[in-house]
Amino acid sequence: MATFRGLAALALILTFSSCCYLTTPTSATPDSDGFLQCLLGNIPSGLIYTQGASNFTDVLASSVHNPRVYTGDMVRPLCIVTATDASHVQAAVRCGRAHGVRVRVRSGGHDYEGLSYRSLQQGDVFGVVDLAGIRAITVGSDAVWPLAPTAWVESGATLGELYYTVAKNNSEVAFPAGICPTIGVGGHFSGGGIGMLMRKFGLSIDNILDAKLVNADGDLVDRAAMGEDLFWAIRGGGGGNFGIVVSWKVSLVKVPSTVTAFNIVRTVDQGAIDVLTRWQEVGPTLPFDINMRVIIMGQQVTFQSLYLGKCSDVVPMLSNLFPELGMTGGDCLEMTWLQSVVFFNSWNPNAPVESLLSRGTSLSTFTKNKSDYVRRAIAKDDWNKIFPWFAMDGAGMIILEPHGGFIDTIPASATPYPHRSGVLYNIQYITFWPWGNDGSAATSWINNFYDFMGQYVCKNPRVAYVNYRDLDIGVNTVVNDVTTFDGGKVWGEKYFAGNFRRLAAVKAAVDPTDFFRSEQSIPPLVQ
Ligand SMILES: Cc1cc2nc3c(=O)[nH]c(=O)nc-3n(C[C@H](O)[C@H](O)[C@H](O)COP(=O)(O)OP(=O)(O)OC[C@H]3O[C@@H](n4cnc5c(N)ncnc54)[C@H](O)[C@@H]3O)c2cc1C
Ligand SMILES: *[C@@H]1O[C@H](CO)[C@@H](O)[C@H](O)[C@H]1NC(C)=O
Ligand SMILES: *[C@@H]1O[C@H](CO)[C@@H](O)[C@H](O)[C@H]1NC(C)=O
Ligand SMILES: *[C@@H]1O[C@H](CO)[C@@H](O)[C@H](O)[C@H]1NC(C)=O
Repeated sequence: MATFRGLAALALILTFSSCCYLTTPTSATPDSDGFLQCLLGNIPSGLIYTQGASNFTDVLASSVHNPRVYTGDMVRPLCIVTATDASHVQAAVRCGRAHGVRVRVRSGGHDYEGLSYRSLQQGDVFGVVDLAGIRAITVGSDAVWPLAPTAWVESGATLGELYYTVAKNNSEVAFPAGICPTIGVGGHFSGGGIGMLMRKFGLSIDNILDAKLVNADGDLVDRAAMGEDLFWAIRGGGGGNFGIVVSWKVSLVKVPSTVTAFNIVRTVDQGAIDVLTRWQEVGPTLPFDINMRVIIMGQQVTFQSLYLGKCSDVVPMLSNLFPELGMTGGDCLEMTWLQSVVFFNSWNPNAPVESLLSRGTSLSTFTKNKSDYVRRAIAKDDWNKIFPWFAMDGAGMIILEPHGGFIDTIPASATPYPHRSGVLYNIQYITFWPWGNDGSAATSWINNFYDFMGQYVCKNPRVAYVNYRDLDIGVNTVVNDVTTFDGGKVWGEKYFAGNFRRLAAVKAAVDPTDFFRSEQSIPPLVQ
């Protein structure tokens, strides 16, 4: 009996796999012409830019932010579909499935490795669906405090557009997400969303109520139709894995009409290392209303802070909880929350809030970033060994984002973002170089410094934040046209720890043929 069952199961597996291998369109040779014809039959031709089109390059570059990955010889898409409606996204996926051409999706184009618009495999044939034209933001008028109002925000909107739209009409309404206003909602929400409001309200993904996604069959599904496993996976499991999210329903948050922003700068000569050493304990345990991040560049440390309240409250609070910082009323800048968003982006408290609405390309500076998490404070003696690195040739900077607060109240498995309780802070290593410089000093600096820091940060495995995408930590292996679980595990457990396996199981359930694939896409775990 047992043998019979075993054989039956084996036969089933063989039938299943051979059927899928033979009939899965994506495993056949890509039919580029068929794909393009299919697009032209289903999407207005003015929205389709093929490689030969005169302004293909302009469209390709339209939201790119890093010339390190946007190079003359990168593997480009066959075509770009500048979708303006969910039906165009559906058509692109269906045409891709039918003709064996994979599709990548781009919202804001800020991916650190450019995976939304380039491939690293020579000869790879793929299309790009660009969502910059799908960017409406609709704020609900149905709820009043204490019930949080909600909004639907489309993936092609930028964070700046979201902030501006929700706060312009009511200065007490906000949303927790990242600092740079040109980031796209689509990629950002897919990977987490670290920002100035996170200690009070968590990451962006902790405030998402519903979503509309085009799945691997080209169907448009909402939370109820996609099911809770997939809805779990798309909130933090990384972009470009499970489908194309067209829009998100978010829960907006309440902030006071006046907030206090301040940057306090201390040099090493002024005792910055003592203040920083102490910050590691204080930053993650301060009241939820304050977020104090740290920027280290040269021999200077900036404590960049947002307090959800008045100057007259935060000064006594910090002189009590963090006297080493030496904050005074003279450091305070009182403003609306929306103005604080502009301030943290531009460092200019008077820059117009309309600046949050600008988009575009930024190809002036080459950058490379990496990330770590710290659970045990680094000793003062060790910081003394770390600081000389910021005076070296090619030195960049680091940013420390304190955790704790609301982030800690959410279990590590409640969303794919696993870096919760016990994390003191995230470290982002950033290095940059201008045109005309080959970047070798900056690149060696970040690689050597990252190696050196290994002794002080979370390890076994050493972890990272998926929205700070870094291909150095591992790329996929593809066997028989499907990404292997064991290959994906190498980088996947660094981003997702114990949640990686569940992400791979969801992937197997919703995209078993691995249609949504990149160098760091979740592999299907076929059990
Ligand atoms: C200048 C700058 C500042 C940043 N600051 C912060 C910060 O403060 N906090 C923070 O958390 N992060 C920050 N980031 C990182 C940022 O969150 C990620 O790069 C994010 O993935 C970018 O989203 P995007 O839509 O702009 O990028 P894209 O390049 O369009 O997409 C990124 C990834 O998501 C996929 N994707 C895009 N849209 C969708 C969609 N609709 N559905 C499914 N998958 C999709 C893409 O295929 C790609 O794999 C910053 C990045 C930059 C360049
Ligand atoms: C591309 O060129 C066409 C024809 O010249 C023009 O109609 C279109 O607006 C251009 N699109 C972009 C995004 O530049
Ligand atoms: C690295 O981070 C900095 C600061 O957030 C950002 O300006 C830069 O664009 C990032 N690098 C990339 C995109 O590779
Ligand atoms: C907010 O919106 C309402 C209704 O649309 C409008 O009447 C009011 O003028 C707006 N207020 C501000 C400050 O923009």
